[in-house]
Amino acid sequence: MKHIIILFVILLGLTNPVDAKPPTDKATPAAVNTATSNTRSSTQSQTCLNCHKALTGGIVNQWKLSSHSNKGVGCYECHQADKGDSDGFEHNGFFIATIVSPKDCSRCHEKESKEFQASHHAEAAKILGSLDNVLAEVVEGNMHHDSPAAVSGCWQCHGSEVKVLAGGKLDPTTWPNTGVGRLNPDGSKGSCSACHFRHNFSRAQARMPENCGRCHMGPDHPQIEIYNESKHGIAFAANRTRFEPLMEKKDWIPGKDYEQGPTCSTCHMSATSTLPLTHDVGSRISWTLRPAISEKIDAAAIASGKKVKPWEERRDDMKQVCLACHADQWVGNWYEQFDKSVGLYNDKFGIPATKLYKMARAAGLITNDIEFDDPLEFTYYFLWHHEGRRARHGASMMGPDYTQWHGNYEVAHRFYMEFVPQLREVIEKGLKSTDPAKVEGAKKVQAELDQVLNSENHRWFIGKMTAEEKDARKKASEEFRKRYAQ
Ligand code: HEC
Ligand code: HEC
Ligand code: HEC
Ligand code: HEC
Ligand code: HEC
Ligand code: HEC
Ligand code: HEC
Ligand code: HEC
Repeated sequence: MKHIIILFVILLGLTNPVDAKPPTDKATPAAVNTATSNTRSSTQSQTCLNCHKALTGGIVNQWKLSSHSNKGVGCYECHQADKGDSDGFEHNGFFIATIVSPKDCSRCHEKESKEFQASHHAEAAKILGSLDNVLAEVVEGNMHHDSPAAVSGCWQCHGSEVKVLAGGKLDPTTWPNTGVGRLNPDGSKGSCSACHFRHNFSRAQARMPENCGRCHMGPDHPQIEIYNESKHGIAFAANRTRFEPLMEKKDWIPGKDYEQGPTCSTCHMSATSTLPLTHDVGSRISWTLRPAISEKIDAAAIASGKKVKPWEERRDDMKQVCLACHADQWVGNWYEQFDKSVGLYNDKFGIPATKLYKMARAAGLITNDIEFDDPLEFTYYFLWHHEGRRARHGASMMGPDYTQWHGNYEVAHRFYMEFVPQLREVIEKGLKSTDPAKVEGAKKVQAELDQVLNSENHRWFIGKMTAEEKDARKKASEEFRKRYAQ
């Protein structure tokens, strides 16, 4: 059946569907869209429409607005199933599936699907073994893998593993779901409608910052908030009405088709005059700012011998984007500021806090078989997973308020006012223990903490600022007062 459809599409003049031009002898797109029966649909899809235009008028009208309807890609072209598909079912004389997976889209959009499958987005359901998952299943949840906290929370962004029940029905704990790394019954990963909403599948909608902001938001990855407060977000908002019609067009090149307010998609995905559009959102970023300690992207994969695009190339690609609107020095200097900001977080807080935390766990000063039952565990988690990320994310996308007040300030407060006191408390308890191994462990953690607090960045806190440091600070303060004195 699939071959007949493909033949049909070819007969319509769509040998390369994606690059196909609208046939010139046909009605204008507007006329096609308003026609009650779509003359370009296959006979199968016409049959679907006959029932569904009354039954699910919303879906049919969304579809009519899409490029798909203009190109003869109808209900059946997407929803048809192969005999072997576990989620396929008989439906009014057709064998169809409700799920349309990236594999189904790849029949016509091979390039996008391949790039997407190779991206971290497609891996987003790999959170099952993660620390955060203990939260959804245990701390917040009901001890089950499909805890409602996971189903309606984590999985909606990350993706579920879709389970099929009898007759092709879908298990309600796993669907509806359009998480970006969803595991599909056909073995493919992800969901294209994470970004391309049904049934318009419009590129304009996907290019909108709000689209990415559905998931990239909140206390632990506030990218949309950062963007909105950055000059880029403001420039987009200020020019939005002028830009919106342009965003419908296939070609959308910064510095050519528009000149302000890059959106998420501009920097991470869209084509520039020198780069092609990519569906691998990691393809232009050089750091990973998610872990407790930042490293260059894919460092673990590289260490395990995998061949991946080197971070230097990814950074060069991102610079190509910036250079559509800025000059070389501006961009080069900005990257220096960004790198130093990540370095400061890592060196001053990320690395020492992680080492101390791990040592305290290993020494049994806090329970080491379950997370989140000690205050120190929550404290450390807030420090890197919320505040430390915000500081780094703010710096990466020009949101100084996130770098400072939601970021570095909170990290410092958390470290000095909670992490250190709580650590001292468990060390003290450990030193009084009757278990000699625990006493030994507590001594080691104490020695490490002393070393950290006596280091250059922290000794001010224990009253050990050197005479030269005090002098330099005093001088700076005097100069400041002199400059602003009348
Ligand atoms: C004779 C009328 C009729 C025709 C023809 C028809 N449908 Fe349906 N369809 C329905 C009805 C009624 C429902 C809702 C009840 C159900 O699930 O069976 C439905 C539901 C669906 C669902 C949702 C199923 C679910 O369980 O979530 C999909 C997807 C669907 N149709 C696609 C199609 C496609 C694709 C075609 C053409 C190949 C088609 N339909 C042809 C009547 C029809
Ligand atoms: C470009 C491919 C494509 C076309 C064309 C298409 N669909 Fe869908 N449809 C999808 C995707 C993707 C989903 C989301 C299902 C999933 O993967 O979770 C979906 C979901 C659905 C659902 C279930 C979700 C809901 O909101 O209830 C129905 C019903 C449906 N489609 C009917 C139709 C009908 C009727 C047509 C023709 C007018 C149509 N589809 C055309 C891709 C398509
Ligand atoms: C049978 C072939 C076919 C299938 C299956 C298909 N598409 Fe398309 N798609 C097309 C064609 C043809 C176009 C129009 C290309 C053009 O206008 O240059 C298109 C255009 C698009 C566009 C650009 C829309 C715009 O704004 O103009 C998006 C996004 C898209 N498809 C996504 C999807 C997704 C996601 C799926 C799977 C859920 C899918 N397609 C399934 C053939 C298909
Ligand atoms: C609002 C959508 C959303 C929800 C809800 C959500 N996450 Fe995330 N999660 C994200 C985004 C977006 C990222 C990537 C952030 C970044 O790159 O800065 C992410 C990153 C992660 C990472 C890091 C992955 C890596 O490669 O380093 C883990 C682990 C994770 N989430 C687990 C969870 C768990 C478990 C839950 C539920 C307790 C959850 N998330 C809830 C959107 C969400
Ligand atoms: C992270 C969000 C996101 C996901 C997930 C996503 N896309 Fe896209 N897609 C976009 C954006 C943004 C654009 C428009 C980029 C531009 O041209 O500026 C786009 C454009 C497209 C286009 C038009 C390509 C062209 O040359 O103009 C097609 C086709 C497409 N996507 C198909 C898919 C398919 C198939 C999938 C699933 C395998 C998918 N997309 C998943 C965001 C996404
Ligand atoms: C001006 C270009 C630009 C815009 C606009 C932009 N970003 Fe970024 N983004 C960057 C740069 C630069 C980095 C850091 C690159 C690196 O690591 O080398 C980054 C990093 C990221 C990361 C990686 C975070 C991590 O934890 O590793 C995510 C996720 C992200 N951006 C999402 C978004 C989202 C969502 C939007 C829109 C709300 C957006 N970006 C808007 C340039 C941009
Ligand atoms: C449905 C939720 C969702 C949407 C929508 C979404 N993302 Fe993501 N994104 C995630 C999750 C989850 C991760 C973390 C994946 C992981 O590493 O496990 C992520 C990771 C990323 C990364 C880091 C990639 C890397 O290789 O480290 C970037 C950059 C990014 N997203 C950009 C975007 C942009 C730009 C858009 C919009 C065009 C977008 N995302 C839309 C959920 C989403
Ligand atoms: C589509 C054009 C465009 C692109 C692409 C772009 N920018 Fe911008 N950028 C602007 C505009 C417009 C402003 C505001 C100019 C002003 O300050 O008057 C701006 C401002 C900035 C600022 C100043 C922020 C502030 O708060 O003063 C920095 C830094 C910056 N951009 C860096 C970058 C970097 C780095 C990239 C690439 C990752 C990039 N830009 C990509 C248009 C762009």
